Amino acid sequence: MQIKTVTTTPFDDQNPGTSGLRKKVALFARPHYAENFIQAVFNAVGPMQGKLLVLGGDGRYYNREIIQLVLKMAVAQNVGKILLGQSGILSTPATSHIIRKYQAYGGFILSASHNCGGVDGDFGIKYNMDNGGPAPEKVTQAIFTESKKLTAYHIAVMDDVNIDRQGRSQCGETIIEVIDSVRDYADMMEDLFDFAVLRRFCAQGFAAGVKNGAAAKANGAGKGEAAGGFRFCFDAMNAVTGPYAHEIFEHRLGLPKGTVIRGTPLPDFGKIHPDPNRIYAADLCRAVMAPDGPDFGAASDGDGDRNLIIGKGMFVAPSDSLAILAANATLVKAYKTGLRGIARSMPTGMAADRVAARLGLPLFETPTGWKFFGNLLDSGAVTFCGEESFGTGSSHVREKDGIWAVLMWLNIMAATGKTVKQLVEEHWALYGRNYYTRYDYEGVESNAADKIMADLRAGLAAYEGQEMDGWEIVKADDFAYHDPVDKSVSRHQGIRFLLAKAGDNAKGEKGQKSGREAVKGDKDANYAARFVFRLSGTGTQGATLRLYLEYYEADYDRQNRDVQEVLAPLARLADKISGLQARLQRNRPSMIV
Ligand code: G1P
Ligand code: ZN
Repeated sequence: MQIKTVTTTPFDDQNPGTSGLRKKVALFARPHYAENFIQAVFNAVGPMQGKLLVLGGDGRYYNREIIQLVLKMAVAQNVGKILLGQSGILSTPATSHIIRKYQAYGGFILSASHNCGGVDGDFGIKYNMDNGGPAPEKVTQAIFTESKKLTAYHIAVMDDVNIDRQGRSQCGETIIEVIDSVRDYADMMEDLFDFAVLRRFCAQGFAAGVKNGAAAKANGAGKGEAAGGFRFCFDAMNAVTGPYAHEIFEHRLGLPKGTVIRGTPLPDFGKIHPDPNRIYAADLCRAVMAPDGPDFGAASDGDGDRNLIIGKGMFVAPSDSLAILAANATLVKAYKTGLRGIARSMPTGMAADRVAARLGLPLFETPTGWKFFGNLLDSGAVTFCGEESFGTGSSHVREKDGIWAVLMWLNIMAATGKTVKQLVEEHWALYGRNYYTRYDYEGVESNAADKIMADLRAGLAAYEGQEMDGWEIVKADDFAYHDPVDKSVSRHQGIRFLLAKAGDNAKGEKGQKSGREAVKGDKDANYAARFVFRLSGTGTQGATLRLYLEYYEADYDRQNRDVQEVLAPLARLADKISGLQARLQRNRPSMIV
């Protein structure tokens, strides 16, 4: 096998962001660009001689080309064996699982997640470690450092590999094995969940949910057995989860064909934005809300790690979903003995904190991005993790997992006979409701966004103790994370303002002295409200400034208000403090999630 060494010059922008290196396809396609980054990864994490590597992607435009490139460069590294998803397809959670199951040294995930695909869209490369999780910051920094001093990369001179047929071939010292993209993952789901119970529920729906007549009624199934099973629609958004969803929901759980829509991965995702939120999965949401539509809807993103959950009459906010799954986890086979702890990213709504407190579990607050959960999961400190950005997962892999979240909800419905709406409302009644939303200002001028953050940071101390618009700013800080496992520190992870109603203490109790004194040693979740400013680390155009808003409502009678109305005054206060709309020359967010 001839190995070619190609002289190259470094690019200065190959710093992996929140989740790997993401760029426009056109930027990735520049001569040597992808090669340089792949070589930088090998240099940072190698040597790879004789090691096992996993490789796959979300099927987006350019996936097949970069698969061939990684194969040839891995052969040049004398990698022992590569497990490659058929046709270059592996969802992100499936890759994580395969790395763990076969004790691989690591893996490449070719994906830009929920970002648009196609020739004008985005592409991405992410490296995962032997625990199945995204490379931690010290490794991504090492990759960046390597990328800046590269002088050459190495590549085997060989024909393209047939990636569409399962089986083994040998190239130089490397065995390339093309594997079924779905089987290992689907088998793992059967280990975690009791598929016999789920199958029965799918076949009979709420009509058989004898435990709760009201649930059956709420779903229109109360009229009798004629309901014809559980009516579920899964929108794979023309992205990677299609084959997984067909196999698991339709084949293994016996739901009718057609349950999975947009189930074939397309290179341009059919020109849609493969991000499962109420805006990009609007058709699904409308269908579920229609009286004659399905009982339950779910969707996943480009690479299969995000999830959207919607029941009739109830969209589930991701932060609530984490809390509700945690509160009901013992109903599920894999978690019947309980959870070790829960982790959420800092901007994620604090509903899970209340569940943790009630169950006596530790709650960890990490920076945004799944890589920060890795140490907590590996050390056994937590079992469930979640982010407000439609990500939920558990210790079964080291990525968030869209289909897993859907199966969790199915399992909880099957075990309780309750609808999504009932489960959510009962949860709020018990724990209170954390009203939550996120405003995104996308594609804004980077300098202006940086300056807003810098000014906020500089003014933090002055805000504390101030009263504004009926609120008292009790705490304002620049979130830094001290990893309890490896003791690393990650600074500047978002600017938080924690508020109490003026005249109340932080818990909202009237007639007590307000301010810092009243909340000393108190938990963040006990504040009445909060907002957080943060810059996105996944965008590929300009900057995206995110504003996260949260308000806690304990009063049952006030838990059914419009989320945006409830949070609008907080948004106005956040704007007053930061001046962001004027400074970004925007009069509204580009997206409200
Ligand atoms: C976004 C989300 C974050 C998620 C990441 C990858 O990152 O906010 O929670 O982990 O995508 O899916 P951001 O663009 O905010 O850096
Ligand atoms: Zn994703």
